[in-house]
Amino acid sequence: MLFQWLHEVPAFAFQRGHIKHPLPITKSAAHICRAPHHPFPISCFDYFQLLLLPCKNTIAYKQFKSMNLYKKIFENNKKWVAEHKHADKHFFEHLAKGQTPEILYIGCSDSRVTAEEMTGVKPGQMFVHRNVANLVPNNDNNSAAVVEYAVAHLNVKHVVVCGHYNCGGIKAAMKAEDLGVLNPWLRNVRDVYRLHKDELDAIANNEDRSKRLVELNVEEQCINIMKMAVLQKHYLDHGFPTVHGWVFDLHSGKLIDLEINFVKKLHNIREIYDLGHKKSKKKR
Ligand code: CO
Repeated sequence: MLFQWLHEVPAFAFQRGHIKHPLPITKSAAHICRAPHHPFPISCFDYFQLLLLPCKNTIAYKQFKSMNLYKKIFENNKKWVAEHKHADKHFFEHLAKGQTPEILYIGCSDSRVTAEEMTGVKPGQMFVHRNVANLVPNNDNNSAAVVEYAVAHLNVKHVVVCGHYNCGGIKAAMKAEDLGVLNPWLRNVRDVYRLHKDELDAIANNEDRSKRLVELNVEEQCINIMKMAVLQKHYLDHGFPTVHGWVFDLHSGKLIDLEINFVKKLHNIREIYDLGHKKSKKKR
């Protein structure tokens, strides 16, 4: 129904002169499509997209664009399956057997900070949890369950909290604005600001202050992980996992290791948050 409508509306509108065609009619997209000598024939979706360009602020155009991306995802998946099968015909058999990831990655949900793509890890190598502003709040069952499962059951060797500069969640938490259900979530970032108020207030430039809050937020989330019983117990028994803080710089594409001194931090944390675990005599 939608496609029928999309097909008819542009033709009708062009005939009646309601909307201006983006190209002179003799060199229209239809001609490009049919031109036998054209090296890159465009798809029907691209053709419709071109026709609908003059109406790009309409709901119909936006619906069409989102359908285009939605359809492409399944096409991309088919290519991805084919590529992996071509490289290793047993790839998906191995994948289905189970996972032994070495890293737990906790990052922001931001669509630009793609955990697997920017780190180059393969399926099965990294256990991933993402939420707004990469938080691990003390009473959040969601992230706590992820850490528990990754540390106690998957035996990950590294736990990473990765923030990113220009984070919408961090910037929102720096504004005097009521954001409804986001308020209690972003209050965790405001708490980080309160803990480091003197340092942050001393930074005059807004952008630099927001960048520093991104880093301090990562550090505080690492500390929240170190407070957890499962982390302390597993580290005492096995010597891992270690906790790391990273920041992704959107402008350069580079990952920055904040080089948090995990052993020193954990030692300091245990003065207050010691949960009474002692190193087991028997090695498991
Ligand atoms: Co973000």
